[in-house]
Amino acid sequence: MIPSVLPTYNRAPLHFVKGEGCWLTEEDGRRFLDLGSGIAVNALGHANPDLVKALTDQAGKLWHVSNLYEIPNQQALADKLVETSFADTVFFTNSGTEACELAVKMARKYWYEKGQPEKTTILTFEGCFHGRSSAAIAASGSEKMVKGFGPVLGGFKTLPWGDHDALHAAIDETVGAILIEPVQGEGGIRVLPDQCLKGLRALCDEKGILLILDEVQCGVGRTGRLFAHEWSGVEPDIMMVAKGIGGGFPLGAVLAKEEAACGMTAGTHGSTYGGNPLGCAVGKTVMDIVSDPEFLDGVRARAGLLRQKLEGLVAAHPDVFEGVRGSGLMLGLKCKVTNLDVVKAGYDAEVITVPAADNIVRLLPPLNITEDEIGEALKRLDAAASAVTKASA
Ligand SMILES: Cc1ncc(COP(=O)(O)O)c(C=O)c1O
Repeated sequence: MIPSVLPTYNRAPLHFVKGEGCWLTEEDGRRFLDLGSGIAVNALGHANPDLVKALTDQAGKLWHVSNLYEIPNQQALADKLVETSFADTVFFTNSGTEACELAVKMARKYWYEKGQPEKTTILTFEGCFHGRSSAAIAASGSEKMVKGFGPVLGGFKTLPWGDHDALHAAIDETVGAILIEPVQGEGGIRVLPDQCLKGLRALCDEKGILLILDEVQCGVGRTGRLFAHEWSGVEPDIMMVAKGIGGGFPLGAVLAKEEAACGMTAGTHGSTYGGNPLGCAVGKTVMDIVSDPEFLDGVRARAGLLRQKLEGLVAAHPDVFEGVRGSGLMLGLKCKVTNLDVVKAGYDAEVITVPAADNIVRLLPPLNITEDEIGEALKRLDAAASAVTKASA
């Protein structure tokens, strides 16, 4: 008999009942160190007092009001995003997938408005993940994602990662946009080198193509800059954000330059819940905290420490790990054994990590993890790695 919850997930047998900072408490009382943050969502840890206050203050006043009316919290968060990023304008969604939908629509509408409606093709890259909607799975170009869900939405071409020749060869008069994650998350913590992002920007400028960045996982302080593309010094035309910006409350956004957004006039897009007072109250508080240069300095310092300790872990367990990769607090341990075995051994050692493609164990701790917690994390990861070695001996 089908379970009452549609069985689309392979869930670990863990029932968390409480979260506090970097810690999750299981029903049986065990305390797990959370290096996953709900896949880069709980950017400021669980039950962060500032976020709890923002949410509960707003909850006592007004939960929902339609986008038919002005929403002051939404305005405040949009202003903050515009002030701290490349963007001139913002649309709020409830998830990364919805942000992907709008990014795709915005790019296509742009070319329609410019009198070049044939420029519908969006180039994407193998290993990418932009969500699970019909557009997002088509964008992934992955057989695993689209199999059985045809007809696959047209207008996407997926290219090999890092293949410059393939990229240049793919550009024809139908290409309207390039969509890429500055750091692939689900694809296995693959960092797009700064030079490549600069090169993509130059190519887009030369050919008159929109550059769309998906910073759903790597944005909002995760790499040690407010947005990951800032490391390269170039700006996108359109950017998708979600996960960390809500700190655990469902919130996403599409940020865009005025020119790229020119087709999105009244009536062309909408959302019942997108930009609701609760989500925006939390999002504004997250942004106030994370955009503070001192906070970002701290993220970079903590990231340096974690990375250094992970290099030590890899050196101590050469039978389990091949190396560390990633950016800031978005790190991946490339495994020699099956990554899931390491994640499962982590559960026994009471530390939460997340598997990713390419046999990677992902570490995405809250951005405010402390030095002591990093030390504790390493002890637990070390115990997990030792258990994997023992089990395979
Ligand atoms: C880079 C990226 N884009 C988009 C998404 C989809 O976001 P959501 O699950 O909030 O719809 C994800 C989710 O993992 C992601 O990592």
